[in-house]
Amino acid sequence: MCGIVGYIGEKEVAPILIEGLSKLEYRGYDSAGVAIFDQDEIKVRKFKGRISILEENLQKETIKGTLGIGHTRWATHGEPSDRNSHPHTNCSGSIALIHNGIIENYMKLKEWLIEVNGDHFQSETDSEVIAHLIDYFYDGDLLDAVYKAIDKMEGAYAIGVICKDEPDKIVAVRKDSPLIVGLGENENFIASDIPALLKYTRDIYLIENDEVVLLTKEGVKIFNELRQEVKRDVFKVTWDAEAAEKEGYAHFMMKEINEQPRGVYETLHRRLDKEDNIVLDGIKITKEDLDKINKVYIVACGTAYHAGLVGKYAIEKFAKIPVDVEVASEFRYRDPFVDENTLFIAVSQSGETLDTLAALREAKRKGARILSVVNVVGSSVARESDDVFYTWAGPEIAVASTKAYTTQLISMYLLSLHMAMTKGTLTEEQYKAYIKELKEMPDKIQAILDDHETIQQLADEQFNNENVFYIGRGLDVTVAYEGSLKLKEISYIHSEAIAAGELKHGTIALIEEGRLVVALATQDKLYDKMLSNIQEVRARGAYVIGVAKKGNKEIEKSADKVIYIPDTLDELTPILSVIPLQILAYYIAVARGCDVDKPKNLAKSVTVE
Ligand code: F6R
Repeated sequence: MCGIVGYIGEKEVAPILIEGLSKLEYRGYDSAGVAIFDQDEIKVRKFKGRISILEENLQKETIKGTLGIGHTRWATHGEPSDRNSHPHTNCSGSIALIHNGIIENYMKLKEWLIEVNGDHFQSETDSEVIAHLIDYFYDGDLLDAVYKAIDKMEGAYAIGVICKDEPDKIVAVRKDSPLIVGLGENENFIASDIPALLKYTRDIYLIENDEVVLLTKEGVKIFNELRQEVKRDVFKVTWDAEAAEKEGYAHFMMKEINEQPRGVYETLHRRLDKEDNIVLDGIKITKEDLDKINKVYIVACGTAYHAGLVGKYAIEKFAKIPVDVEVASEFRYRDPFVDENTLFIAVSQSGETLDTLAALREAKRKGARILSVVNVVGSSVARESDDVFYTWAGPEIAVASTKAYTTQLISMYLLSLHMAMTKGTLTEEQYKAYIKELKEMPDKIQAILDDHETIQQLADEQFNNENVFYIGRGLDVTVAYEGSLKLKEISYIHSEAIAAGELKHGTIALIEEGRLVVALATQDKLYDKMLSNIQEVRARGAYVIGVAKKGNKEIEKSADKVIYIPDTLDELTPILSVIPLQILAYYIAVARGCDVDKPKNLAKSVTVE
């Protein structure tokens, strides 16, 4: 999982590559490099570490050129190091290549190349094999050599290639890894994602799987597998470049936490007509289709999976259809009971998570109808789905997902209410009550955000705790999972989430003096039971932060500190109760001096298995 960028035009290329890479750093950040065509040779500069290290090194010399490619890496094959960084070249250095993805048969190809050419490999990566393979087939026509090379490659890849002998072109390919082309005046670009190019262009070609692109300064040609030219409409980016900047916040994560009222508002209101009926443009499922569906699978990873857990609750409660929720990496390797009467819902912020995409394909193969809840427009998951529900979170840059989650929740509620009304399993009155409450969510989230200092104080008191437990019952458990994931991924504190009723079956053995327990108690019918669970852990020395609805003051007798969320219907509490947990995780990570937006070992978009 890496970020790629490329430029051909009339401007000096190095700053353009650095700018593009800095916008892609969320895709991986253990090393970075560029290859620039300068005075009849391709100069490659690449370094282990952040893009700033590459930038500092480039400033020490003058590399001038108007054609180049750049890469930011997240290691898969080979440790992060200068030599494993991209771009990679063939042995003479006449071909340079950047790659995002994994070449599954690279060992076989490498052995074969060593046999025919000798061992000229410099790195341990699968990517270097592609450069040597293209070189093997090169006979004066880069496009032709790339076609011959990809014919031998198995796996996932977005690649960009330049060649010393043809310095008027970039050839790029997409197979199961994201690739876009940016169009300019006498200049053209490639990149993994739109933010990398927004400073230069808003005119984009979304490249499809198995397509090969030939970029020159003057134009862009897209070819299919059979080398036939295909036409593509220009996709106009309408959102602002500033939307992808920090706007004065210390971290993208805090900015994105604060963008939740807007994201929730947009996701909701873009689907409601004047009479508050749900109108779903991207969804073509009819009542007849729904009547046929006897099972729903929600499949996702990480935070998106946690949103799926809430989706199960909502669909079963409102639409009365049985739902299984599963992490994508498990779903794809068993033999799930999927047929043409199954609705498969993929949830994904990026729409590029490989496990989710692979699970989707497996479900499709078995005949399921595919609906996706996705944030990134035109992403692979969206394109491969029958129906798409876009969340309106805007670009999410911080690795830890926040606004994507809350907008995914709104989407799951809207979908389930829509299904329920289509099937007739909810009354008009019930429907109106849920919609009324949903419409109040942006203001209620804002009220929690306005009180962030109380949570910051708690974080400042508790940031040294090395083990944290999140407990809850009913819908609160799903939020406990998300709160725990947020904390561990950005603060590196060990944390665990568990159904409060399960504590006594084992985990309570870990509760001792000073352990921090975050106890969610927002479900009215489970409130008293949660108070008992809080007392159980407190009796063993835990320090308990309770999360409850405003007005439920009884909890103050059991917990050490209480964070109140505005009152709402039990079914909708996750939209609110997750907010203090995001803020708590954020301030704990800041207090521990962690790199909040770029936690170690993680990348924003997991496009490898
Ligand atoms: C956690 C986080 C990850 C993602 C997961 C799925 O904060 O961001 O757990 O939720 O990698 O990513 P998407 O939603 O892009 O499929």
